[in-house]
Amino acid sequence: MSVETKRRRLSPAAIRGMKGGRPIVSLTAYTTPIARLLDPHVDLLLVGDSLGMVLYGLDSTVGVTLEMMIAHGQAVGRGAGQACIVVDLPFGSYQESKEQAFRSAARVLKETGCSAIKLEGGAEMAETVAFLTSRGIPVLGHVGLMPQLVNTTGGYRSLGHSEAEADKIRRDAEAIDAAGAFAIVVEGTVETVAREITAAVSAPTIGIGASPACDGQILVSDDMLGLFNDFKPRFVKHFAELAPQVSAAASAYAEEVRARSFPGPEHTFKAKR
Ligand code: KIV
Repeated sequence: MSVETKRRRLSPAAIRGMKGGRPIVSLTAYTTPIARLLDPHVDLLLVGDSLGMVLYGLDSTVGVTLEMMIAHGQAVGRGAGQACIVVDLPFGSYQESKEQAFRSAARVLKETGCSAIKLEGGAEMAETVAFLTSRGIPVLGHVGLMPQLVNTTGGYRSLGHSEAEADKIRRDAEAIDAAGAFAIVVEGTVETVAREITAAVSAPTIGIGASPACDGQILVSDDMLGLFNDFKPRFVKHFAELAPQVSAAASAYAEEVRARSFPGPEHTFKAKR
């Protein structure tokens, strides 16, 4: 592609500028071929630490390392040309101090070429978000259900049902907004609270299980593609059913190999002499 025709990557500032406009379209991506397929259709690609569960079969995202995030951030960077690429900081790489967060985020930006990092946390992470954003690191916030806290919060369920829970999520979002996050993921949160937060904060909200009230939506791509057929949370919609197609393809391949009908003559190199 020539320099003239090459589309520029959407910046975190451009994503921020979409507040209240057309909905922000986001998906997760972890690999080059998937990033290449998704990139033309989305505004933001998140290299989410959900990759620990989706790609590596971990029980939670807690075991994901900075090295894993950097390797997959590089892979997505090779496949995507126009979407804003954001890489998650994994558990343990930023909670200790704002300085630790800066070192981890700087490594991610330098080694992957992505535009921004995402970190989970509300009021308790506001100082860190301000520290990073004032030093050249755009931050995507993440409030509501925070999967990295699974060991203290006790699992995956929608939040904001009680007034105390709703108040905490609102205060978390406002703190991260005031600290300078360019956008905020709101996960697993009831519609009324997601709507109030979206109206209250200056950054766009990107919902996952947080109703259509948000300024944009994100899903884990493997969920959206129907690659898991064992469990489907309420907030997920399968826009394709790839799991049965993958099974059927593997079964057809196995049958043809066993019957010696694959490879056929058209797949076989014949000696030229
Ligand atoms: O890790 C991830 O994929 C995420 C999204 C679900 C928002 O944080």
